[in-house]
Amino acid sequence: DMGGHDTYMHKEISEQPDAVDRVLRGRIDDRFSTVHLGGLNLDPREARTIRRIKILGCGTSYHAGLIGAGLIESMARIPADAEPASEFRYRNPVVDPDTLYIAVSQSGETYDVLAAVQELKRKGARVLGVVNVVGSAIAREADGGVYVHAGPEVCVVSTKCFTNTVVAFALLALHLGRIRDLSVTDGKRIIEGLRKLPEQIGEILQNEDEIKKLAEEYAGAQSMMFIGRVRGYPVALEASLKLKEISYIHAEAYPASELKHGPLALIEPALPTVAIVPDDDLLEKNRAALEEIKARSGRILAVAHQPQEKADHTIVVPKNEDELDAILMGIPLQLFAYHTALAMGRDIDKPRNLAKSVTVE
Ligand code: F6R
Repeated sequence: DMGGHDTYMHKEISEQPDAVDRVLRGRIDDRFSTVHLGGLNLDPREARTIRRIKILGCGTSYHAGLIGAGLIESMARIPADAEPASEFRYRNPVVDPDTLYIAVSQSGETYDVLAAVQELKRKGARVLGVVNVVGSAIAREADGGVYVHAGPEVCVVSTKCFTNTVVAFALLALHLGRIRDLSVTDGKRIIEGLRKLPEQIGEILQNEDEIKKLAEEYAGAQSMMFIGRVRGYPVALEASLKLKEISYIHAEAYPASELKHGPLALIEPALPTVAIVPDDDLLEKNRAALEEIKARSGRILAVAHQPQEKADHTIVVPKNEDELDAILMGIPLQLFAYHTALAMGRDIDKPRNLAKSVTVE
């Protein structure tokens, strides 16, 4: 049942305010400015001994993991990174007892992720799951974890589950942070930011007509570039993947800082760039990248907190706490990919060559 929407993707994008509400519900503890995560299975003493966090997932879940790693590093100050689960498995990784491993999956059935979890457990590692489907294979194999509570996702490409997974990571980061060195004041600040998300997502969704017009304008492109810096880079990666998957337009994502190390050679009027430009300590750096692109006559669509002078168009999104901005900046680009694909007549819920869950190698 699509509930009045033409596609499941559109329905699922629209459900995000409620979905985010669900992942937050019952978990916030205002008294101690922290969150309770019932299934984590990690007591505070153990949490303090973690030396590293390694996040594993595929596709969109890997991108959510990249944002998650950034959230954990900034709030809990634990070194963290994310890696595609399949790559991890085949490079005979050093499994370290002080590292906490986190497997991320919407379906909980992705073979590459499940096999990585099993290999880790065989080597005695502790593995948590950040999973959407309750009782799925990865959820059962993990030692504990955080359910994402996005609700059923039917469209082959992931949207609401991506957003909820990132919010679940923010909760985990806050939880670990408050056990370690995050202050009560910062905890409170993050909680206030989290509480604002559903309403702010609603505001972004109200701009759909504007985003649709832009998408129709860019739908003729052969290829598109997505750039972002630090927190914005995984947003660029995910937006680029979404566009590829459903519109079949070639797209690539680069850290904005890497442009001058090669991809700047591609910039010309026929290759539009989508730039993630949050109003944070990297704003001036990001603006400099826009200038470099403009100097080569590249078209620019910015996602930002205020209109960008060098951009041809800016999609303005509401500001949250710096740590949480990435969650909001991805959302207009889901609609952008959606309307680009729609304008090109694509089968949005069932893109060619793809399956919802990849249970084979
Ligand atoms: C992207 C997409 C895929 C999945 C990936 C992992 O829109 O749908 O990239 O994200 O196959 O799937 P899960 O999260 O079920 O492990």
